Amino acid sequence: MRKWMLAAASVVTIGFAGPAAADDPIVIKFSHVVATNTPKGQAAEKFKELAEKYTNGKVKVEVYPNSQLYKDKEELEALQLGAVQMLAPSNSKFGPIGVKEFEVFDLPYILPDLATLRKVTDGPLGAKLLKLLEPKGMIGLAYWDNGFKQMSANKKLIEPADYKGLKFRIQSSKVLEAQFRSLGAIPQVMAFSEVYQALQTGVVDGQENTWSNIYTQKMHEVQKYITTTNHGYIGYIVVVNKKFWEGLPPDIREQCDKAMKEATAYGNSQSQKENDDALAEIKKIGKSEIIALTPEQDAAMRKAMEPVYKDVAKRVGQGLIDEFVKETKGATN
Ligand code: LMR
Repeated sequence: MRKWMLAAASVVTIGFAGPAAADDPIVIKFSHVVATNTPKGQAAEKFKELAEKYTNGKVKVEVYPNSQLYKDKEELEALQLGAVQMLAPSNSKFGPIGVKEFEVFDLPYILPDLATLRKVTDGPLGAKLLKLLEPKGMIGLAYWDNGFKQMSANKKLIEPADYKGLKFRIQSSKVLEAQFRSLGAIPQVMAFSEVYQALQTGVVDGQENTWSNIYTQKMHEVQKYITTTNHGYIGYIVVVNKKFWEGLPPDIREQCDKAMKEATAYGNSQSQKENDDALAEIKKIGKSEIIALTPEQDAAMRKAMEPVYKDVAKRVGQGLIDEFVKETKGATN
């Protein structure tokens, strides 16, 4: 069904752009896979509000949350075809279109906190990475936060040995694949929209995600235990179809740019609170037991995942890993 929609949408967009009346608004279709009450959902709504306001309604932003239009991989294809104009996929999802460098953000424990992340995304490396998207027909406009990931399963996950033999849903990132293999677990790539059911039916045993994603997808209803690991980060690249963006009248593009900058500042200032609120709700509902690790248990997890850096150096490039680590060190010194 979705494949059909994608094909039909691309025929409509490419084959028949149609004569637009002079006062028809320019429509930006913004597709994403999470709920509206998440960091990404809220930032997208803010962008809609501001872009429509700054352009006096000359631009209309239609936000389609919750994989309503497309699932993960399909939405990137849809953007390239021009069936939608804007997305914000996570760093982990660009590999399948040939931009694997963003997977460096997936390295376990590479980011101690959001302030350090910001130094990387706002610095020269952040800008350099965005440039890699242009040959793929898209422009990277901004980095949006979600937050840090936690591990969940129907079994208590305390030490590395607890992961052995369990199947974990992962996003389409080879770094995440290596991460679960380093724990002796079996990683399985799956679209975000399918995770709840896969956990419920036992297709996979566990998953990793942020509190806001766990809560809004109700994963806590089908996972007995969630361990506070903060072992990795989920953030997003806001991407826009290059032809569309460059074809906008310059004044409109400028106003949309301004709306994007402000929506980014707003979203990134709220992300921590949204994850904290989601955790509080999960605790209140009480269906999952939340497990905290002792410093020794945390150290054992870090040690078990260390080999990932070597494993994936060939994929994302040792130079890129070094550059990234150097920027994070600079940020904390
Ligand atoms: C996931 O697939 O787990 C996340 O990337 C979903 C999202 O967009 O936050």
